[in-house]
Amino acid sequence: MKNIIIFGAPGSGKGTYSDEIVNRYGMGHISTGDVLRGEIKNGTELGKIAQGYIDNGQLIPDELMINILAKTYDELPAGKGVIFDGFPRTIAQAEALKVMLAERGHDMGIMVELVVDEETLMARLLNRAIEQGRADDNEETIKKRFAVYHSQTAPLSEWFEKEGMRNVFTWKGDKDLMLSEIFALLDTLK
Ligand code: AP5
Ligand code: MG
Repeated sequence: MKNIIIFGAPGSGKGTYSDEIVNRYGMGHISTGDVLRGEIKNGTELGKIAQGYIDNGQLIPDELMINILAKTYDELPAGKGVIFDGFPRTIAQAEALKVMLAERGHDMGIMVELVVDEETLMARLLNRAIEQGRADDNEETIKKRFAVYHSQTAPLSEWFEKEGMRNVFTWKGDKDLMLSEIFALLDTLK
C-alpha cells in the first residue's frame, strides 16, 4: 500500500479512520499524538517537554517533532506503507517529511482530509473526555487546539493541493458512508 497522510482538525476522526484503514490494508500507523502521550506516560525527558505544549493545546517545536517522526518511521517494517496521523501539522513538517521519505526512496503517497463542522468536533471531544479522560480534552484546551489548527495546520491543505495529493472527505452525519467513500479511493491504490 502507498503511504497515506490523514489530515484534519482535532476530533475529525484521524485516529478512528486510521484504525479502520490499518485493519483493511495491514499497513503501519504512526500517530504522533500517541507517540507523545506514550513518552509522557513513561516519564521520559521528551515526555516532560511535550506535556507543557500538549496541555496548552500548542504544537511541539518542528525540529523536535521531525526527529521523533523519522525515528518512529525507521522502526517500522519497510515496504508495507504507513499511515501518518497527526503529522505533518506545519508546512515545515510537510517539507521535512517529503525530504525524509525521498532520502529513503519512498513516496509521500496520498493525503486524506477529513472535514467536519466544529460543533460536531467539540461534541465528540467532550464525549471522549468522559470516556477516556484525555488531558487535553477540556473545553478551554479544545478551543486552543482549534485555533492552532486554523492558524498553523489548515494552510497545509493548499500545500497538498499543489503536490496533487489532496483528497477531501466531508462529514455528512454517517460514519459508514464516510468510511466507504475513503475505502473506495484507497482500493484503487492497492
Ligand atoms: P493528536 O493526538 O494528534 O490530537 P488531535 O489532532 O487534536 O486529534 P485527536 O486525536 O483529538 O482527534 P482525531 O482526529 O484523531 O479524532 P478521533 O478519531 O480520536 O495531538 C495531540 C497534541 O500532540 C497536539 O495538540 C500537539 O500538542 C501534539 N502533537 C501531535 N502531533 C504533533 C505534530 N505533528 N507537531 C506538533 N505537535 C504535535 O475521534 C475523536 C472522537 O470522536 C473519538 O472519541 C471517536 O470515537 C469519536 N467519534 C464519534 N463519531 C465519530 C465518527 N463518525 N467518526 C470518527 N470519530 C468519531
Ligand atoms: Mg487522534
